[in-house]
Amino acid sequence: MSVTILKPGVFKHITCRNNIYPKSAVKRFPVPDEFVYWSKEYSEYAPEVYTAPHINGQPWADVNIVSADSQPKWNQIDGDVNRVSFNGIYKIENGLPTNPIGRTGLRGRGLLGRWGPNHAADPVVTRWKREADGKMSVDSCSQKRILQMVAIQRHDNKMWAIPGGMVDPGEKVSSTLKREFMEEALNSLDNTEMIETFFTNGSEIYKGYVDDFRNTDNAWMETVAYNFHDEDGTKVGKFSLSAGDDAANVKWLDINSSVELHANHIDIIKEVIKRLNAHW
Ligand code: BGC
Repeated sequence: MSVTILKPGVFKHITCRNNIYPKSAVKRFPVPDEFVYWSKEYSEYAPEVYTAPHINGQPWADVNIVSADSQPKWNQIDGDVNRVSFNGIYKIENGLPTNPIGRTGLRGRGLLGRWGPNHAADPVVTRWKREADGKMSVDSCSQKRILQMVAIQRHDNKMWAIPGGMVDPGEKVSSTLKREFMEEALNSLDNTEMIETFFTNGSEIYKGYVDDFRNTDNAWMETVAYNFHDEDGTKVGKFSLSAGDDAANVKWLDINSSVELHANHIDIIKEVIKRLNAHW
């Protein structure tokens, strides 16, 4: 069972509205709470169109002008590119995909490569916190064990996050989960048998829309998150971590209710806490 998918009626994005778009001077058109959903008429709505110039021509990006002869296959697997949303069929308006949650105050792709869904994968690698003598740490109030997760600090917004990354064209999510963890948190690509086995035993926590600061009306992030838990701390739990190029920092982070993470990663983590009955 996965956590509730973020969808209109249940959820309103916050991170991707009413601010300056990252790495630009572009101001998002104001979107007050009551005007987030497309179903609510907002006649004054006139957001700018912005696609960061440097993404043009990148191998991971779509073409800028969606002309009639190069229309991507929306809502389908388009060659190697997955244009299917976990949130269901998205609408195409004026030839472009429409954000499944609602307005963000900006049209275009911003910093995102793909029109429509941009797929990421997030490995939540956990272990129990232990004292120096190896005894399990227990929180003195809740009397519950304290969960630790591998967290990386992102270069772009300096926030702590799950060490996830983009699913490469044609790549299986299971490979992305392992690859991103190894690149970002272990700074290694050496695949030992232990790592191989560890990453076959995950449980799916979430798949769907992410309230990412890069989202626009026509391009948004989605992710699949899996929990890989090292119950006795003898597997990945015993590794010393080392940040790869894509991360500024990496650490075993103690999880509790005061932790703040990138986008809506904390909702993913809360679900892991619930399932493992850990301190919060
Ligand atoms: C990150 C993922 C994250 C996704 C959506 C990607 O850049 O690597 O960890 O879930 O963005 O915010």
